[in-house]
Amino acid sequence: MVKKKKGEDQDMGKVAIYPGSFDPITYGHIDVVERALEIFDKVIIAIAEDVEKRPLFSVEERLQMVKTIFKETPNIIADSFKGLLVDYVAKTNAKVILRGLRATSDFEYEFHMASMNRSLNTYLDTLFMMTSKDYFFVSSRTIKEVARLGGGVEGLVPDLVARRLKEKFKLPVTKKKQMGWDD
Ligand code: PNS
Repeated sequence: MVKKKKGEDQDMGKVAIYPGSFDPITYGHIDVVERALEIFDKVIIAIAEDVEKRPLFSVEERLQMVKTIFKETPNIIADSFKGLLVDYVAKTNAKVILRGLRATSDFEYEFHMASMNRSLNTYLDTLFMMTSKDYFFVSSRTIKEVARLGGGVEGLVPDLVARRLKEKFKLPVTKKKQMGWDD
């Protein structure tokens, strides 16, 4: 495992890696990444290719959505990675992994993941940011379920994501009209 020394890359600005499935990205994620820019000079949104869950969107589709959403924000970069997160982070000049925490129920999973990553590379820290109260109930999983069953997800995901979900689930025209998704 590649281990960087403390003090290395210090003149390159503070960079955080924000890893996840982002299947799809929600305003909950966006809230975390935008607030992180108050602390870091650059945040890299890193979409994991090797996850156990079967994704709805391909890596290319997720990457395209994230890139489009942040096209006006040069210090938010979208990327994808294969294999272990710690190996990906070691190739960048970041030493912080950023994760959002919605509720105490997230904690155990996050604690295990952060501890495992720390044991794989002691140079790395995981920083948790509490999700804003407006989005604490928002997850990619529930967004997909609501969209699949014809519910509205406006205000919880960017319009682009809502359109992509609509295309994926190919809702009947009448339902789209009802939901105000008729372009
Ligand atoms: O959005 P998610 O699905 O909660 O993100 C989980 C993710 C992608 C951050 C995690 O599964 C991950 O880092 N996967 C890459 C492979 C890896 O390093 N696994 C060991 C972490 S314990």
